[in-house]
Amino acid sequence: MGKKIILTGDRPTGKLHLGHFVGSLGRRVELQNSGLYDKIFIMIADAQALTDNADNPDKVRDNIIEVALDYLSCGIDPTRSTIFIQSYVAELTELAFYYMNLVTVQRLQRNPTVKAEIQLRGFAENGAEEENLQRKGTPVGFFTYPISQAADITAFKATTVPVGADQEPMIEQTREIVHKFNSVYGETLVEPEIMLPTNSACLRLPGTDGKAKMSKSLGNCIYLSDSPEEVKKKVMSMYTDPDHLKITDPGKVEGNCVFTYLDAFSRPEHFAKYLPEYENLDALKDHYRRGGLGDVKCKKLLIAVLEEMLEPIRERRKYYEQHIEEVYDILRKGSDEARATAQETLEEVRRAMRINYFEDRELIEHQAAEYRKE
Ligand code: TRP
Repeated sequence: MGKKIILTGDRPTGKLHLGHFVGSLGRRVELQNSGLYDKIFIMIADAQALTDNADNPDKVRDNIIEVALDYLSCGIDPTRSTIFIQSYVAELTELAFYYMNLVTVQRLQRNPTVKAEIQLRGFAENGAEEENLQRKGTPVGFFTYPISQAADITAFKATTVPVGADQEPMIEQTREIVHKFNSVYGETLVEPEIMLPTNSACLRLPGTDGKAKMSKSLGNCIYLSDSPEEVKKKVMSMYTDPDHLKITDPGKVEGNCVFTYLDAFSRPEHFAKYLPEYENLDALKDHYRRGGLGDVKCKKLLIAVLEEMLEPIRERRKYYEQHIEEVYDILRKGSDEARATAQETLEEVRRAMRINYFEDRELIEHQAAEYRKE
């Protein structure tokens, strides 16, 4: 009966990197190509990006095209998925405004992702003791972005939201809002399910320096738009096992980036093709653990594996980079379509909330009759 609808998105604050690819982008392309979903919406969350970049609108604006290029080059097909820009769908703001009445300040304060991000951005009123961290205070828009995210998801009646684990609290809050809305105003909205990445190595891809996460500010990313030379350089300087000094030393694969990345990206076919003396990744790991296997050999394999994946992405990117107007056309059409869908939901919401005054004949006639009587 119910349609299967996907909604997901990214803040346009930078180019997308391998962490995004394993965590979400690659999966989206698979989901798109699976044919199992009736509709897929992919949103460039510019309004959300502005919640903590209010003083840097150029950064957000310039990254819209970067993210769009990344989507298209990874194989998001605009004839099968709708790519749109959040701020263009004004209904999302309206919906968020109504949802604000269904969420308490205290509940928002408990949202672990928002809590962590407030610290991370130096918004915290206390805990910003260090001199270089000014007490900026938390912008209200930022504080309430989980509510706006609930609007993003529910405006499209999304059933499935493929996101990383850090977004779990957002989906949880969305479900609570849906539940509350439906119990107050009647069954209107759809409760979404989160869809987490499946491969455990993909849950969170570490940076090339071995730090927990790829992040632009740490400078430890491999970007989808990196050239083969850049990829090679980054892999060659990647963090491995600091105690594996001589080739003959036994090595550790846990916490060793090269192996974490091979876990995420390599397949048995790659071994037949590039390192036929090993049957698969387990055989390579065994050898590394025993000693006698050098980092460079493993890194060369990783470069080959990454290149196989990145090369077609780069090719498509080249095409779209030469057709920027076409990309904006895709975004405009997608945004028009998204807006039409959100408008339908908003009509239902306004009806359920009984604020659709002009469409509510019964209300008008009833009041007219009442006043005539007097
Ligand atoms: N908060 C998400 C992120 O930072 C982006 C986002 C905004 C989103 N609205 C969304 C993701 C709705 C999924 C659904 O990555």
